[in-house]
Amino acid sequence: MNQLATFRSQIEERLGSVMDLNSPHSTELVAAMRYAVLGGGKRLRGILVCGTTSDLGGESARALTPAVAVELIHAYSLVHDDLPEMDNSDLRRGKPSCHAKFGSTTAILVGDALQTLAFTTIAQDQQISDSQRVQCLYLLGDASGWRQMVGGQAMDMELEQQLEFSERDYVLLCEAKTAALFRASIEMGAVMAGIKHGSANFNLLSQFGNDLGLAFQITDDLLDHTESSSDIGKPAGADAVAGKKNAVAVFGVDEARNRANHYFDHCMEALENIPYEMRFVKELTRACVHRNK
Ligand code: IPE
Ligand code: IPE
Ligand code: MG
Ligand code: MG
Ligand code: MG
Repeated sequence: MNQLATFRSQIEERLGSVMDLNSPHSTELVAAMRYAVLGGGKRLRGILVCGTTSDLGGESARALTPAVAVELIHAYSLVHDDLPEMDNSDLRRGKPSCHAKFGSTTAILVGDALQTLAFTTIAQDQQISDSQRVQCLYLLGDASGWRQMVGGQAMDMELEQQLEFSERDYVLLCEAKTAALFRASIEMGAVMAGIKHGSANFNLLSQFGNDLGLAFQITDDLLDHTESSSDIGKPAGADAVAGKKNAVAVFGVDEARNRANHYFDHCMEALENIPYEMRFVKELTRACVHRNK
């Protein structure tokens, strides 16, 4: 098995055991949580955590907990993103979205539960040093909270109603709603490899994570415009219908492609400046930008 497939199957396996839950209060809640997390998704953020640790000379198996935690946060964000009050999307990962299957009340609670489960999963892992646990908790909490991911989701919804918006708004939006989790994935991978928070290499890796997130979201916006629902596993063309200020609306298709390539080049430059080969992460970056789903 190649490294990508190995990381993916290790993450799937660990997610399976983390989601092996029994609730005395609601079997429906647990069924919906499992539905939202298991059986779909590219697992790119989790794979980035493991791949970063491995490329930096660390032990990737020790990075599995933060890898699983970022996938739980991501899964929660998608459940809430799809709600009727947000993007109102009935299809996710090629299946009915969580609220379409279980109803909005359960879907809201699924998001709440997955969010806290991400943090307790990190806090409980005795294989990780106290210092690494605290750093991962902080990095993931900061990236997913009001300052970044949630703030970006708020901005995304507010921009739907606005006629005036700028290129700067778009970058600010994507850095928050999407790039923050990519950045945190790389940063947690670095922490698990023993790279010091705030060191020159850590900062270069953060910058790389940010650019990767921007390239990723521009690609997502392009795929919404160019691919079919069955290809992307979510309703195609939904952004234009909702009035989203996405890359296609802001730049047009050709310029959006140029921007994705521009951020991809930035990613490669940042990686060249890090005194590690970063072989796996470079390959994954290519796959994140040159993808069709
Ligand atoms: C979708 O992310 C949400 C965005 C930030 C664009 P992914 O395309 O990584 O979703 P899954 O996990 O593979 O379903
Ligand atoms: C979602 O962005 C970002 C988060 C969930 C934080 P999108 O709304 O573009 O994602 P998709 O296209 O529904 O996957
Ligand atoms: Mg959205
Ligand atoms: Mg959406
Ligand atoms: Mg999208």
